[in-house]
Parts: sequence; C-alpha cells; structure tokens
Amino acid sequence: MRVHGITLVLFTLMFHSSLSGIAHDSRTSFSLQFTPKQINRHTTKSMTLRCERNSSVQIEMVQVFRIRIVKKSESGWNLIAEQRGTETLPRGNGNVTASANIRGDIINTFLQASWDNIGNDSFGIYKCDVMGYDDRYNIVIKNTPEVYVRESKIPREHLAVLWKNTQKLLVALQDAMGTGMYTIKSTLTAVEDKVAVLENKTSALENTIVALESKQGLFEKRFVDIERLLGGFMRWPEGFYALLKPKTGCPFDNATLNGTDYFQTIHTESHRSSDPSDSHSSVFAPDTLKTVNSKRFVTMKFCEIVREVNTSPWPLGSFCINKIVQRSCPPGFVDGFVQFDVEDLDREIDGRNDVVSDGDTHVKLFFCCQSSGSASTPIKLPPSRPFMLYRKGGQCQRVQEMSVSAEYLQFNTEDYNNVDELSGSHPDVDQPGTVLKFHMCYYTPI
Ligand SMILES: *[C@@H]1O[C@H](CO)[C@@H](O)[C@H](O)[C@H]1NC(C)=O
Ligand SMILES: *[C@@H]1O[C@H](CO)[C@@H](O)[C@H](O)[C@H]1NC(C)=O
Ligand SMILES: *[C@@H]1O[C@H](CO)[C@@H](O)[C@H](O)[C@H]1NC(C)=O
Ligand SMILES: *[C@@H]1O[C@H](CO)[C@@H](O)[C@H](O)[C@H]1NC(C)=O
Ligand SMILES: *[C@@H]1O[C@H](CO)[C@@H](O)[C@H](O)[C@H]1NC(C)=O
Ligand SMILES: *[C@@H]1O[C@H](CO)[C@@H](O)[C@H](O)[C@H]1NC(C)=O
Repeated sequence: MRVHGITLVLFTLMFHSSLSGIAHDSRTSFSLQFTPKQINRHTTKSMTLRCERNSSVQIEMVQVFRIRIVKKSESGWNLIAEQRGTETLPRGNGNVTASANIRGDIINTFLQASWDNIGNDSFGIYKCDVMGYDDRYNIVIKNTPEVYVRESKIPREHLAVLWKNTQKLLVALQDAMGTGMYTIKSTLTAVEDKVAVLENKTSALENTIVALESKQGLFEKRFVDIERLLGGFMRWPEGFYALLKPKTGCPFDNATLNGTDYFQTIHTESHRSSDPSDSHSSVFAPDTLKTVNSKRFVTMKFCEIVREVNTSPWPLGSFCINKIVQRSCPPGFVDGFVQFDVEDLDREIDGRNDVVSDGDTHVKLFFCCQSSGSASTPIKLPPSRPFMLYRKGGQCQRVQEMSVSAEYLQFNTEDYNNVDELSGSHPDVDQPGTVLKFHMCYYTPI
C-alpha cells in the first residue's frame, strides 16, 4: 500500500517534468496519427486520433499503466482522452469518444480519440504520453512527437458541385435584377457577398476554383450557406405583402430584394403611465425599444415581398401578414388595420416602408389575414430561413418542417384621449389599458 503511494508520487513528478518537455523522447516507440488525412469541418464527418506502438522501434517498457492524448492550449496541455490501468473504460473529454487497450502484449497497446462532429475544438497540437514499467518495474515514460491537426481546404470536387449550384442561384438572382424593378440592396449579406464575387464571370471553372481556394477562409462559410439555401429553396407565395422582421433577418427570396431595410418607429407614451410598458420577446432585435431624451420609441422592421409573377397561391390557414397600403391583399386574405395613438407631446415620426399610413395623431398598420384553415394543420412555407407571422384566432399556425414559438411585441400608446383602433380583419392584439400587445409566431427550420 505504502510503496504503491510512493510510486504514484514519483510518477506524478516525472510525469509533470515530461509535460514541460524536459524528458522528451526523440525515438518514437509510440506514434500518434490522425485519419482522415484531409480534415475540414464542413466536409469531414468524423476524425480519429490514434496513439499506438511503433513496432519498428525497440522499447524497454513491458507493461503500460497509463496512456493519454493531450492537446496544447495557452495554459498548457489539456487532457483529451485517457486510459488508466485501474479503470476498466477509457475516458474522453468533451466531444471525444475514446477506446483503448493497455492490457496484454504491449504491441497491442493503443488509445484512440474520435470526434463525430468536427469543429474549431478539433484542430490543434496533440501528443500522446505513455507510462509503464520495464521488466525491473522501473517507471518508463514515452511521448510521441507533437502532431498538428490543421484544417484542410474543402476538396476540389466539392467546390465544383457547389459552383454549379451557385450558378443556378445566380441566374435566378440575375433574373430578378433583370426585371429592372428591383435593386439588390441587402437581401442577405451572405448572398450579396457571393454575388459580388461570383458575378465576376471567370470563363474557366478551374480558374474560379483556384481563386476561391485562395480565399478559402472567407468562402467556406458562404458556400455552406448556399448549400443550405439550395436545399430548402422555395419561393414565398404570390402577391404584395410584408412580414415583420425578427432579429435573424429576412427570409431569403429573390422578391424581397427591394425591401429588407424597411421600418416604422412608433413614438409611444413617454409620460407617467400606469399601463404595462413597451416590451417585446427576445426574437426581436435589441434596438426595438429606444429612449431618447426621455421620449420612448418602439421600432418594427419589415421584409417586403413584391411578387409580380404569379407563383404558388397562399395555403389556407389562420394567420396574418402585413398589407402593402397601395396594393390589394393576395387572394384568399381579408384586410384590416390596427391604429396606434402615438405620443401627443413632441410627437416624432420616423419610418420607411409601404405598410403604414401616417395621420396627425396616429399611424395605421395594415394587415392581410386568413382564418379559412385550421391553425393546427401544418401549411407549407419556405423552410430555409426563420420568419414571423402574426397570430390570428388564439393559436399559432403550424408550418411544415419548422418549429414555432409564441412571441409578442407590446406598445404603450398615448394615455390621453386614446384613439387606438382595431378594424376589419386583424391579428390577435391584447389591450390591457391603452396598450397594443401583438401576438406573433416565430418559425425556425427544424
Ligand atoms: C516508426 O518508427 C520508424 C523508425 O524510427 C519510423 O521511420 C516510422 O515513421 C515510425 N512510424 C510511425 C507510424 O511513426
Ligand atoms: C463540443 O462541440 C461543440 C460544437 O462543435 C462546441 O461548441 C463545444 O465547445 C465542444 N466542447 C468541447 C468541450 O470542446
Ligand atoms: C473558429 O476559429 C476561427 C479562427 O480561429 C474563428 O475566427 C472562428 O470564430 C471560430 N469559430 C467558432 C464557432 O468558434
Ligand atoms: C425569382 O426567381 C425565379 C426563378 O427561380 C424567377 O422565375 C422569377 O422571375 C424571379 N423574380 C421574381 C421577382 O420572382
Ligand atoms: C473580378 O476579376 C478581376 C480580374 O480577374 C479582379 O481584378 C477583380 O478583383 C474581381 N472582382 C471581384 C469582386 O472579385
Ligand atoms: C419596392 O418595389 C415596389 C414594387 O415595384 C415599388 O412600388 C416600391 O416603390 C419599391 N420601394 C422602394 C423603396 O424602392
């Protein structure tokens, strides 16, 4: 018992000195290797680091009692995987699964760490430490050389397929620009960046790939975005309308090209009020509420969709979208509006959109609503990006391939002679006092 304790202390000391590099072994009686040889977080599914005996190098060690793979960090070496003789199973840290054998003939000794998801944490400098005894029971420590697992470029073939798909998407975008009615502003920064680069028509695919490869870091993420986009590419239904914009941005659609930065700021009650105050759930951008010189404001942002060409009709359900004031609702919708009584004193107006009309003491927000289908029957809408619909009928409309959460946006409107009004077909709005609380439904791809 006692002897064993001393051995452990001794071992710990030696082990530490080996970590600081003092006892570095130049002969590689154990090797640490990774597979596959090319690892990229977007195209590689899994990776493995394996530490094992190199039989072409003689070794005095006859028995292993501990083997571990460690990774270099700013503060030293972190344990990634380990097998100790006293434990029946190896242990892996974080996202690593470990397997090992340290029993029997030392030639069969190994420790393996596997990652099923490749992320930033998979790359870096690794080494393997092996501790054991020689035939006279002296402690022997072997370290493998350090192995640098770097991220490889995305393989060429993968880029080639993506390039082909991207060109298809580009053609669609160019069609949209070609109508002359739409200017590309800020649909999706991601798409825009791609357009800037890819529009630059390089005749040979080869050249393009070389160019893209040289800017690897920047483009990899973009390509992944395109892949996702192409996977779920489906256009929004017909008509002229707008969607309230969540902090995740506008849904992707080539018909939103002229309307992704539209907004309306409502000057809300800015004096003492016993009503519930302006507020919103977390799906809205942090700049939704604003107080300037003790004046309070709530800002709504919109994504306007302007689809001249007949595409698919809207599915039947129970929900609302915003109406473009100068246009009719898409077929199947009934219109209405919600009037906000804005702050009387020092009134300020700010907005740029096609969905609100301004009066002297109020603004009207227009809607197109449906209640012709059941909210609990999932309808199909483009699933590639998150979006919001207004709730109608007490329940969020279900959408295929999307999960839904209940959200809200609340305005404390003018207390004095309040003229808030709900008219025609409008979304679910609560009015606890001179307050307008809009119920929203937020959809995210599953
Ligand atoms: C095993 O050792 C030999 C001799 O030092 C060396 O040439 C070889 O690269 C080693 N193998 C591995 C997998 O490290
Ligand atoms: C595990 O993987 C996730 C996703 O890649 C990453 O965010 C997290 O930091 C990883 N955990 C550890 C302990 O490395
Ligand atoms: C991954 O690492 C790169 C470079 O070190 C860094 O720019 C990026 O933000 C990291 N990504 C994540 C998800 O940690
Ligand atoms: C959008 O892209 C489609 C092809 O995917 C095209 O038919 C349509 O004209 C484009 N523009 C608009 C405004 O829908
Ligand atoms: C377009 O190509 C030219 C010549 O190959 C290059 O100088 C220019 O920087 C490229 N523009 C973009 C946006 O990549
Ligand atoms: C957006 O497009 C619609 C439809 O063509 C047009 O009426 C409207 O003026 C455009 N808005 C802006 C700000 O360009």
